[in-house]
Amino acid sequence: MSFRIEKLNESYHSKNGAITESQFVYIQEGYSYWNETNKKGVCNIFEMGYGTGLNAYLSYLESQKHHSKTYYTSLELFPLSVKETACLNYDKFFKTQKDILTFENFSKIEWEIGQDLSEHFNLFKKEFDFEKFEEIKKYDIIFYDAFGYHAQPELWSMKNMQKCYDMLFFGGIWISYCAKGSVRRALEKSGFEVERLPGPPGKREMLRALKV
Ligand SMILES: C[S@@+](CC[C@H](N)C(=O)[O-])C[C@H]1O[C@@H](n2cnc3c(N)ncnc32)[C@H](O)[C@@H]1O
Repeated sequence: MSFRIEKLNESYHSKNGAITESQFVYIQEGYSYWNETNKKGVCNIFEMGYGTGLNAYLSYLESQKHHSKTYYTSLELFPLSVKETACLNYDKFFKTQKDILTFENFSKIEWEIGQDLSEHFNLFKKEFDFEKFEEIKKYDIIFYDAFGYHAQPELWSMKNMQKCYDMLFFGGIWISYCAKGSVRRALEKSGFEVERLPGPPGKREMLRALKV
């Protein structure tokens, strides 16, 4: 199953590989890494690009393992409908316990209001353009999950990397599947300390940036 975001000429594909990649990049190297190195009682995640909600759902599952509370804010310019998301049938890849939301039910959570989905997880998803977004709140982690540079070069610009820097607390991290040299340099120029990490299966490298 796959479908296309016409305006960006990009597609979503329902496959196990997408879950493996999200789990590796955003959960293992982002969320879990931050939790291991920070002992704050609260974790504030900002995601650029809600898409199918896969990163959000994996974070929700992961948050059940922690005692802390996670506030997850995500922006999306072209929200998918509940019907479209259901077509992906991601639940076939997850075995959820009774008190945990299925991916399908997670997808039905309303937009534009923050909601506690458990003692450990609050989700706020907003239909909005990141390029017009002005945020005063600060975050601990940014999941930067725009489509690739070929599709959306403007989203990987110095201006937007600087915006990410400004949105983080000191000690906060920016994480992405992207490994492009120009993005790494834009992050460095914005003030980040950037690490090149081994990427998920099939990708040589990815980037993690620390606000220092
Ligand atoms: C790679 S996909 C995100 C995948 C998603 N994180 C997931 O877990 O399924 C990139 C997303 O960014 C969204 N997007 C593109 N430009 C945007 C913008 N300017 N502001 C907010 N979202 C944008 C796209 O519509 C798309 O859903």
